[in-house]
Amino acid sequence: MRHFLKETDLSPAETAQVFAAAAGLKAGRGRAAGSALAQQSWGLMFFKKSTRTRVSFQVGVHELGGLPVMLNADDLQLSRGETVADTARVLSRYLHGMVIRCHEHGLLEEFARCGTMPVVNALSDFLHPCQFLTDMFTLAERFAPGRPDQYAAALKGRKVAFLGDTACNMANSFVLGGAALGVEVALAGPAGYEPGAAIRAQLQRDGLPETFSFSTDPAAAVRDADMVYTDVWVSMGMEAEKAERLKLMQPYQVNARLLALAKPSAYFMHCLPAHPGEEVSAEVLASPQSIIFDQAENRLHVQKAILAHLAAARG
Ligand code: CP
Repeated sequence: MRHFLKETDLSPAETAQVFAAAAGLKAGRGRAAGSALAQQSWGLMFFKKSTRTRVSFQVGVHELGGLPVMLNADDLQLSRGETVADTARVLSRYLHGMVIRCHEHGLLEEFARCGTMPVVNALSDFLHPCQFLTDMFTLAERFAPGRPDQYAAALKGRKVAFLGDTACNMANSFVLGGAALGVEVALAGPAGYEPGAAIRAQLQRDGLPETFSFSTDPAAAVRDADMVYTDVWVSMGMEAEKAERLKLMQPYQVNARLLALAKPSAYFMHCLPAHPGEEVSAEVLASPQSIIFDQAENRLHVQKAILAHLAAARG
């Protein structure tokens, strides 16, 4: 049984295959009905708010010929004490796969261990692998236009700067995924926000070197970057720290002055939702360098390719 809980659950060769498949699905969208999930029902379980992930997975399962079953975690017996293990065992009797957005990454691992169907991480407090893979696909579309078979190769050696909350799940995904795909990841955030022990341990478990760098100097991270990335400074569940975080992270706002230090051809990316005036200026969000809505669209195509890959692996 194959799962996609973290970036390294796909080998680099499989990631290249998923990129090529996503490009095909994108080009062919609306021309022919998909069948990769025909006769299948996939559960989409959310413990947290979502706009992009929820809708793109629901539409994606439908477009692959499957039935998306939306599950608000609060509506399940899970919220009244039924165990994750029993929920996974029971839902595996009805469903062919599961997409889960949750708080603790361990819930995903337990669900995958106890169930008998593929599980996809739609964001946990540790990682956001569907977003990372989509971000790399979106960048590769620009580096190797019209050559999907070259997308993975086109990413190698590129420099990505990640600014702001460098200890968040999105930053962790860049640390892990960047090491796996040969992308240089330069993180810049406040002291104390360097990537933690858990993501370093994951690199070790995957046999990957620590290829990222961490600095408190945003200019150093952005200099000569091919892409500049940021995420919200106050993630879901961290509202109590809002005032402190806004003050601490102010020097890391991606604005026109900072973006000008990157390569002239550099792109700006953000997983959204954005908070203009906080982690990024309104000017940068709307600039020609910003490719945020292509990123958002590509969630659909890349996730469809991931689901089809997992379904095919199951046979
Ligand atoms: N980027 C992202 O995961 O968006 P949602 O929270 O809206 O799903």
